[in-house]
Amino acid sequence: MRFATKQIHAGVEPDPTTGAILTPIYQTTTFVQESVDNYLSKGYSYSRSGNPTVQALETKLAELEGGAVCATFSTGMAAIHAVLLAFLNAGDHAIVSDVAYGGTYRLCTKIFTRFGVEFTFADTSDDDDVRKSIRDNTRLILTETPANPTLKLTDIAAVSEIAKDKGIPHAIDNTFLTPYYQRPVELGADLVIHSTTKYIDGHNATVGGAVISRSAELGEKVSFVQNASGTIMSPHVAWLTLQGCKTLTVRMDAQCANAMAIAKFLETHPKVEKVCYPGLPSHPQHELASRQATGYGAMVWFEVDGGVAAGKKIMDSLELWTLAENLGAVESLVTHPVTMTHADVEEAERKRVGITDGLVRLSVGMEDVDDLIDDLNQALDKA
Ligand SMILES: Cc1ncc(COP(=O)(O)O)c(C=O)c1O
Repeated sequence: MRFATKQIHAGVEPDPTTGAILTPIYQTTTFVQESVDNYLSKGYSYSRSGNPTVQALETKLAELEGGAVCATFSTGMAAIHAVLLAFLNAGDHAIVSDVAYGGTYRLCTKIFTRFGVEFTFADTSDDDDVRKSIRDNTRLILTETPANPTLKLTDIAAVSEIAKDKGIPHAIDNTFLTPYYQRPVELGADLVIHSTTKYIDGHNATVGGAVISRSAELGEKVSFVQNASGTIMSPHVAWLTLQGCKTLTVRMDAQCANAMAIAKFLETHPKVEKVCYPGLPSHPQHELASRQATGYGAMVWFEVDGGVAAGKKIMDSLELWTLAENLGAVESLVTHPVTMTHADVEEAERKRVGITDGLVRLSVGMEDVDDLIDDLNQALDKA
């Protein structure tokens, strides 16, 4: 089956009892067993350890990413946390992309370091920096590409090759492009992480996470943590995500086309000093973006003449764009990473990786692009 067919049908069978076309929400704690000897004869025991609605989504996501298995989680952060817990022990070292979602940086620096795990936040866009950062005790490489919010890219195949050479698993956060545009398993990655909150759900309805593993063996380590720590996705969230996911290709193509038009508009606006979008030839890694993905995504950022004050004025003047955290859904959102998503990253670290005070992040949605541009235009006039 091709991708657009799988996004609708993979993992979903008509309900065996009623024929319902949608997998029902199995809202239950436990599953009644036939007898002690026939324990688990229907495959389920207790909803923390497995639930048919959640399982349907996990099967679908594993098929979409081309991995062996998937484990879903209560949030994207719970998914990242599960990968760190599954592969790192006290005394181990991990390499993490120097620009990543602020919550990932916070989890590593404020929680995992308390338990004796060491981190190097490396420039994973530079193979040499990845190689130089490897130590004898490196047990995980975690990259995010395109990175939130700078849209810096990591060459997935190159880093996977380095990781494979040293026998270190390479996990990649594929939230920004999804398997529709970017296929980390085919490029050599071992684990693929999603905040399903974003494009996979796509409707600002749920928070959730997923980890897709290249092999059943890696997947077992992740699902052990899923069950042991209990950070599972609920059947209701899994059901909503199953419905949202069916239109992933259509939403992403529409949002990506809107993002390209908006990036081009911003590039020609006299008040805009800098625009960043991987689809623009001016993006420093445009060639890599075109080579390793089939779409450029729907995240754009820009800086205006007048710095922070002018940027804030624009964000406050927008009427159709909504000032909010989150990204990836059909509603267009504007975010100020320094005060919102990356507030917990120290100022010096933010400056080092290019998260400037005036950076305005756009998550481009599915509205009519002319309405989105008109609104940006009137807000820019006010700045
Ligand atoms: C790239 C990326 N990964 C992970 C997360 C965390 O996901 P969640 O908010 O679902 O916990 C986010 C959230 O913005 C993100 O942007």
